[in-house]
Order: sequence, then C-alpha cells, then structure tokens
Amino acid sequence: MDHFEELRHATPRRVQDAATLADLDEIEATTIGRRSIVAEARRDLGKIKDPEERRATGRAINDLAADIALQIEVRRTELHTSEVNATLEAERVDVTLPGRVPRRGTHHLIQQTMDEIVDIFVALGYTMVQGPEAETEFYNFTALNIPSTHPSRLESDTLYLEYGDTADEILLRTHTSPMQARHMESHDPPVYIVVPGKVFRADAIDATHLPVFHQIEGLAVDDNITFADLKGTLGQFARQFFGPDTRVKFIPHYFPFTEPSAEMHAYTQGEWIELLGCGMVNPAVFEQVGYDAETLTGFAFGMGVERMAMVRHGITDLRTLIDPDVRTLEQYR
Ligand code: DAH
Repeated sequence: MDHFEELRHATPRRVQDAATLADLDEIEATTIGRRSIVAEARRDLGKIKDPEERRATGRAINDLAADIALQIEVRRTELHTSEVNATLEAERVDVTLPGRVPRRGTHHLIQQTMDEIVDIFVALGYTMVQGPEAETEFYNFTALNIPSTHPSRLESDTLYLEYGDTADEILLRTHTSPMQARHMESHDPPVYIVVPGKVFRADAIDATHLPVFHQIEGLAVDDNITFADLKGTLGQFARQFFGPDTRVKFIPHYFPFTEPSAEMHAYTQGEWIELLGCGMVNPAVFEQVGYDAETLTGFAFGMGVERMAMVRHGITDLRTLIDPDVRTLEQYR
C-alpha cells in the first residue's frame, strides 16, 4: 500500500510534467498499464481473505486508476493540440511573400531574324518550306545548272559526307537553293516559297566566315513574272526590314541558276551594303525539274541571315553570333 499512496501523490505532477505524447505513454504504462503498480495490486486482491476488505480495496484501486486515466487523457489532449500547432507553425506558408520569378529565355538573334524575314514574305503571299541539310550533289549543284567544273564543287569548299554506296554524292548543302529544285519537282506552278535553313561550307571560323550559317531562299514562278516584280518584291522587303526610307539598287552579277542575275545593295546607316543575290530563274533550271521552260517565268533570291542581323544591329564580327555568353545574348532579346 505504500507505493500505492506514493502513486496517488506523485502521478499528477508527473503527468503535468510530461513534455511529449511519448513521455505520457510511458507514464501511462508504468502507472495503470499491464505491468504497472495498479495491475500488480489488482492481481494481489485475491490474497485478501476478508470479502469486505477485498471489495473496499478493489474499489480504491479502481477509483485511483480511473482518476489517473482521466488526468492522462486531459494532458494528452493538451499535448496533442500543442504538437499540431507546432507543426502548423513550422510549415506555415507566407502567401504575402513575392514569388520567385524565373529567368525568361528568348529566341536567339539568328532565329528572331529568320522569323522576321520569313514573316515579311508570308505577308506577301509566300509559303515557308524547309529542305534537308544533307543534300545530294544533284539538287545542290546539277539541278541548279552549276557545272561540274565549278569551284564550289571542290572538296576544299564543300563538306562531303561518307554515306557508303549512293547513286549520288551526299554533302552538307552549301546553300538553300537546292530546295528550289526539290519543290518544283513535286509541286505544279505557280510557286511562291521562302526556305530558311542552315548551310555549310568548308571554312575556318574568323570575323567574316563561319562553317555553319543560315540562309533564306526565295522562289516565285508564275506566268508573266518580270524583273520589275523582283525589284518590287525585294525593295518592299528591304523597306520593311531596314525602314521605310531604305533605297535599293541592283548590280549585275553571275549565278548559274538565274539569268540575268544581280546583287541587291541597300543604302542604310549612311552606306551602300550588299544584301543578297537574285535573278530571273534560268530556263535551264525549269528544264531540270520538268517545268515548261518555254512559257514559265520566275525570279529567285538568296540571302544570308547572319548578314541581315549584322547590318541591322551594327555587329562587325560574325563570331558575336555564336557567342554563348548570356551577356552577349541578352542584348538581342
Ligand atoms: N545560292 C546563292 C549563294 O549561296 C545565293 C543566291 C543567289 C540564291 C542568287 C538565289 C539567287 O536564289 O537567285 O551564294
């Protein structure tokens, strides 16, 4: 009975002092649990011979056990509430904090320039098409009336690919012009297309050369197309791209796939600058693709995208355009 009295006195303090639910479980086990003082006292009841005394003791044990169980339950509720509150506090989200704004990406200047130029022609009624970067010698040269003796066919100018046994040599296209022939072969006239894409040459990198760069090809084929249509279309393009006051001039040139051929120069930022090659489609090309060379007429043009971007932005070194430094790239958002 000694430790019974001690239990009665000490338990309320121990329960109050329990700091965690786990501590409280421990107290419950040692006071009223299966191996506790109370459980032991209940087991010993049988040893009391006098029925009156046995009943009185049993009631006293039960009262004490019920009292302790109630104290523990009250404390358990308190601890549970404060643990939940602590978790809520720790996981609190401050919805008034400003959000984290991710760094926004952008298209590269080359892509922006290409998109803008294509858009100008699409607004004039042209359709954008794209061709393969690995091209056959036929489409890259032969179909375009480029003779087998032409220097651009040399290994030193063109990147040829080892493709095993092919009927034709395979190479990385040196210009976007092969798509003229491919498109005409599979589409009836009239044709109004622009062809943006990568082109490849066996050049070492310096301020004015890149082995990989971009071109936009244009082709218009219809009845009664004249050089005046070429001038009107390309002049309109120059004014939209460089500004409404831009003047253009055409200087005779030579390309195998156009006849006559010209270079278009534009007067912008105080000087005349060569912008692109162009000309009336050579009937020899119409013949190569099975078009009626007697009646059809057309003009074609090809321009370097890097060149357009450089003139527009006053960039003097081509390598700026392949600089991966974001401080460079960010200037052309
Ligand atoms: N393919 C030529 C080049 O890479 C550019 C060119 C010139 C394309 C005149 C044309 C054209 O369509 O008519 O240098």
